[in-house]
Amino acid sequence: MLFHIPKVLDAGRLARCRQLLDTAQWADGRLTAGTQAAKVKHNRQLPEDGAEARELRAIVLEALSKSALFFAAALPKRIYPPLFNRYGGEANAFGNHVDNAIRTHPASAQHVRTDLSFTLFLAEPDEYDGGELVIEDGFAGRPVKLPAGDLILYPSYSVHRVEPVTRGARLACFSWLESMVREPQQRELLFELDMSILAHREQHGDDDVSVRLTSCYHNLMRMWTDV
Ligand code: NI
Repeated sequence: MLFHIPKVLDAGRLARCRQLLDTAQWADGRLTAGTQAAKVKHNRQLPEDGAEARELRAIVLEALSKSALFFAAALPKRIYPPLFNRYGGEANAFGNHVDNAIRTHPASAQHVRTDLSFTLFLAEPDEYDGGELVIEDGFAGRPVKLPAGDLILYPSYSVHRVEPVTRGARLACFSWLESMVREPQQRELLFELDMSILAHREQHGDDDVSVRLTSCYHNLMRMWTDV
């Protein structure tokens, strides 16, 4: 299942991100790719230890921590420190690949099992042609190209690619996370229940049904989470 999380970054945070990305020094994107992915990866990436990357990461992680929808959909346990990439010019595409199952943070040596991947778009769709993120989910790949500040969350086990950028530059933040709920079906059921409880409470307030459904939600969380 794919989740679209709109407006993760507000206009002010987005403008600061763009300022930092415009002055940053880019490196070869193959730095963080596995051996299979490296063969099809042609983009630029910010070195993880640069000053710009550090400030950008802090902005994104703070915004993610405030997004109730991101939390409900991902139930994040550990988020790999977000990375930033640029597709354009010669380095303009990333062919079909699957993300590595485990990412190990170079500084902390902490492992993150990649249950979910995300892309946070940092350029507006009219700034570039191509650059759709295509996620093979079911029979056909679904192309995703979102407004700047919006995020797509998708299963890390899916085969995915970034189509060639033929004009302008596609800027994005991306990373992976380990969820408190490992099984996608359980996670999706919890999300559906959570959203249904919210809708019920909006219509009926905190009636007895909402209390009982909320109790089911938390008891399922007790059964299924690993924290
Ligand atoms: Ni990928």
